[in-house]
Amino acid sequence: MNSQTKINSSLRTVEWKNNKVVMIDQTKLPNELVFVEYNDFNQVANAIKTLVVRGAPAIGVSGAFGLALAALQSKTTTKTELILDLEKAKKILFDTRPTAINLGWGLEQIMKVAHAGTSVNQIKTSIVDEAKKMAEDDININKTMGKYGSVLFENNDTIMTHCNAGALATVAYGTALGVIRATKESGKNVKVIATETRPIQQGSRLTAFELKHDGFDVSLIPDTAVGYTMANGLVNKVVVGADRIVKTGHVFNKIGTYQVATMAKQHGIPFYVAAPLSTFDMKNNAQDVIIEMRKGSEVTGIGDKKTAPDGIGVINPAFDMTPPELITGIITEKGVAKPPFKESIKKLFEAN
Ligand code: MRU
Repeated sequence: MNSQTKINSSLRTVEWKNNKVVMIDQTKLPNELVFVEYNDFNQVANAIKTLVVRGAPAIGVSGAFGLALAALQSKTTTKTELILDLEKAKKILFDTRPTAINLGWGLEQIMKVAHAGTSVNQIKTSIVDEAKKMAEDDININKTMGKYGSVLFENNDTIMTHCNAGALATVAYGTALGVIRATKESGKNVKVIATETRPIQQGSRLTAFELKHDGFDVSLIPDTAVGYTMANGLVNKVVVGADRIVKTGHVFNKIGTYQVATMAKQHGIPFYVAAPLSTFDMKNNAQDVIIEMRKGSEVTGIGDKKTAPDGIGVINPAFDMTPPELITGIITEKGVAKPPFKESIKKLFEAN
């Protein structure tokens, strides 16, 4: 970490400022802390697509801010025309990444506000207010989730996490890393093992960065060392985030999560998932979820450096599915769902 990347704790991953969307450019971390400012929803769509902003809750809020920009950009004078402009922008924002359900959720929340509005000006104001509220809610939800999750972890636990489900994947505080933060705030001493998370290295670039920055004892491992660390008693518990959880408890998260969960089961290590209710998809079944496939160059090289020969085939799925039988509990802002998940997830929504 160089001096430019010192961040203060009130910093947000994505924010609405003076009718613009301001984001940390995560593609530059951990070497540089660069903020980008957008006043056009197309720029926000591009930022989501190119991983300037990533992580399910962060892209949910970014989508909402994108639609707020689209509302301000619209020159229309009637509600009907404004809704048409918003629908077009929604499609462009939605088509950026298919797996995290929070993106569609964030866009739908804003469309509901638009439909409920009366005049063009009133709709524009209430859309901006709603998007800002979603950003605030995200932080509060993460903190509540943290409190529910922290009781599952003990003093001197070493907790493994995969990818980045931290402050950088949300507006602030994080989901899985929020639980780890809350555990530490409750007075327990914990260590963290972060997997590197190839191919984009969210674990080394982002998780190790934000935990080190916040004074955690964090060790980085290559993804290939998950089995070794578990077999050698170096891990007590695992907590990861999620991009989508269906009603049966199948969890879609960063590629490699399934391997970590399988290995945790093999070694009798509790495997937790932390996610807000906005990450649940109560309509689709596991087999309907689209797994984003990304370009081969992410695998045939690291950054700009080529590490594989030209002309080979590459399979590069960005996410995988962890089945419910590998999951010990799902931590949400409404409490912890335990197996059997069909029943416990249903109850979370009934309590909502
Ligand atoms: O491709 P990414 O970096 O957007 O993937 C992110 C993850 O898989 C996270 O674990 C998930 O979004 C949960 S973030 C709180």
